[in-house]
Amino acid sequence: MTEPGRDTKPTLVLGGTGKTGRRVAERLGARGLPTQIGSRSAQPPFDWHRSASWSPALDGVGSVYVSYHPDLAVPGAVDTVGSFAELAVRSGVPRLVLLTARGEPEAEEAEDAVRASGAEATILRSAWFMQDFSEDFLLEPVLSGEVAVPAGDTAEPFVDADDLADVAVAALTEDGHVGELYELTGPRPLTFSEAADEIAEASGREIRYLPVSIEQHAAAAAEQGMPGEFAELLTYLFSEVLDGRNAHVADGIQRALGRQPRDFADYARDAAATGVWNVSAVAN
Ligand SMILES: NC(=O)c1ccc[n+]([C@@H]2O[C@H](COP(=O)([O-])OP(=O)(O)OC[C@H]3O[C@@H](n4cnc5c(N)ncnc54)[C@H](OP(=O)(O)O)[C@@H]3O)[C@@H](O)[C@H]2O)c1
Repeated sequence: MTEPGRDTKPTLVLGGTGKTGRRVAERLGARGLPTQIGSRSAQPPFDWHRSASWSPALDGVGSVYVSYHPDLAVPGAVDTVGSFAELAVRSGVPRLVLLTARGEPEAEEAEDAVRASGAEATILRSAWFMQDFSEDFLLEPVLSGEVAVPAGDTAEPFVDADDLADVAVAALTEDGHVGELYELTGPRPLTFSEAADEIAEASGREIRYLPVSIEQHAAAAAEQGMPGEFAELLTYLFSEVLDGRNAHVADGIQRALGRQPRDFADYARDAAATGVWNVSAVAN
């Protein structure tokens, strides 16, 4: 049950063309619920770096899925997200579902800032996404057959972005999620070596994990022309966040949805079936 009126107003889905936002918008749309994408390419455009774009995007909406780009750990992100939450509350849109990341002190500061705004907040504090291997910075390494990242033998309980989107939609459309902090992980921690093996098995290709140092990874990123800001973010994530602090599973999916999270093997099987790891399809 939702409160009267809220479900008739659109949900503003920030990052609505990205890995989680796209899935949230698709799910709301499939239920016949109105959505409005919030991104630089949307109409009206929404840009985290242009606060003047926030009010037009909030106009007439009933709730917001808040996914910051690129990461709450970048300088200024905490203040920006806090200011957005204050504006949303002042604009009569208090229902916010905020995506944050496990193991990042800055992400926890952003959670505090959103709560302090007076928002009816639900926090989704997430593990690394499985879809990083098929839709983001780990796709290219998978296609090359060598996942060379500075992850050592640290395990990460990757979460399926489809599960995360299911939780976001539950929090946006059902009562009982306001004030909750859901820590979202998959059902088992995997090292990058194990993840590469699972992708190799699912795709029928030879893919190996090559542990490299932080310095080697940064040098390779610069050589490949990766933007400095993103390379710095990856260095931070691999050196400080992926240090084992997040290697344990959590129960956010179970608590929010009453079911088990999807396993990495199921994700790998389904992603392989789309052809995303098919090198000949990419080359043509
Ligand atoms: N990737 C992970 O494993 C992971 C794990 C846990 C938490 N997270 C968190 O998830 C959040 C999103 O990360 P992601 O990697 O999944 O990215 P993503 O959602 O795939 O990012 C792309 C989206 O952000 C929009 N965007 C980019 N720059 C923007 C700007 N300046 N203003 C407004 N929208 C902008 C893009 O649309 P336009 O280009 O049209 O603007 C697109 O909709 C981050 O806060 C991150 O910390 C990620």
